[in-house]
Amino acid sequence: MPTLATTVDGLKLPNPFVIGSGPPGTNLNVITRAFREGWGAVIAKTISLDASKVINVTPRYAKLLGADGKDVVGWENIELISDRKFEIWLDEFKKCKDQYPDGVLIASIMEEYNRDAWTEIVERCQDAGVDAFELNFSCPHGLPERKMGAAMGENPEILGEVSEWVMAAAKKPVWAKMTPNVTHIEDPSRSALRAGCQGVSAINTIRSVMSVNLETLRPEPSVEGYTTPGGYSCKAVRPIALRMVMEIATMIRREFPGRSLSAIGGIETGGDAAQFILLGGDTTQVCTGVMKHGYDMVKRMCDELLAFMEKHKFETIADFKGKSLDYFTTHAELVRMQKERKDKQKAAAEEAAAKKMVKADSEWSGDDFVKQSDALARG
Ligand SMILES: Cc1cc2nc3c(=O)[nH]c(=O)nc-3n(C[C@H](O)[C@H](O)[C@H](O)COP(=O)(O)O)c2cc1C
Repeated sequence: MPTLATTVDGLKLPNPFVIGSGPPGTNLNVITRAFREGWGAVIAKTISLDASKVINVTPRYAKLLGADGKDVVGWENIELISDRKFEIWLDEFKKCKDQYPDGVLIASIMEEYNRDAWTEIVERCQDAGVDAFELNFSCPHGLPERKMGAAMGENPEILGEVSEWVMAAAKKPVWAKMTPNVTHIEDPSRSALRAGCQGVSAINTIRSVMSVNLETLRPEPSVEGYTTPGGYSCKAVRPIALRMVMEIATMIRREFPGRSLSAIGGIETGGDAAQFILLGGDTTQVCTGVMKHGYDMVKRMCDELLAFMEKHKFETIADFKGKSLDYFTTHAELVRMQKERKDKQKAAAEEAAAKKMVKADSEWSGDDFVKQSDALARG
């Protein structure tokens, strides 16, 4: 019987399904609900020391529906990090660890470019009992204006420096969460790992504009008739997330063996998670999926992942982590391999035809008579 239990950076998870930072981990009430439903770990909504600067708007979500007009395939948000007071969060972290001592609780943190602020937020969160950190270097809207989030994540040098500050203060494992809004996601990932972070999480949302209303001519989501580019998530981003996870995993394998990777982007089924693990993920995070399907989706996902493992006779997550990375190569190599196969097929066909050729009159057969005649005409 396979097991979903896995240990990542010393964190013991009952399964690899982790609540991704966002509304599904936004207060004690929902975090404890996630543990009760059986999630492997919870990454809380991103917090900062001074929540008074965080002011959200409504509407702040917009959905892209599939051809059936019902299934949500894409989701844009212009939501900021948590607008709840830091002291309230510390209290809730403590209460959560009291109620669920074995539940893996990860604080997602974000600060301005200021060493003291990063040191303070790390120290106070770990004093409150969190098990690990995720550094939000990736929120694409609102906060970059304050040089936070993706503004840091798009700059590998600054990201590396901030990661060093965090690593100097952190006594718990640290994952750095990457923005996909860069050309080469390996560059910021490498900076975080060089600074000593235990792992990388990817991806956060992709900068997007959901739509333009053809009646009002206003882009959506429309706030007082205006909008601002937001972050795109859900199923539609999965192929992009798979590519980026593959790129980071390949880099980790070569340059930082043993470091971890938490895969995110459009995961809604056990099969989706299996694909990310096959491309090198240690854990798989779900955010928008929970907003669509509810917390109990984790049970279905666990069953689906176990069925996949049973089918392929994998006993543990480690048995298939990164297994499909070996099947990537360059386009030139694809061309070479295809030519090699076609050449071999051609040679085999010619050999077969040559075998059909009549070498003595006794070999003429009634069934192959026409083919044998043709072969002799070809010579
Ligand atoms: C409404 C919403 C709010 C989010 N807030 C945060 C956040 O506070 N911090 C963070 O690191 N990521 C945040 N994210 C990004 C998600 O954690 C995740 O990286 C992204 O949505 C892709 O995964 P998904 O398709 O499973 O949602 C948010 C996503 C959504 C949809």
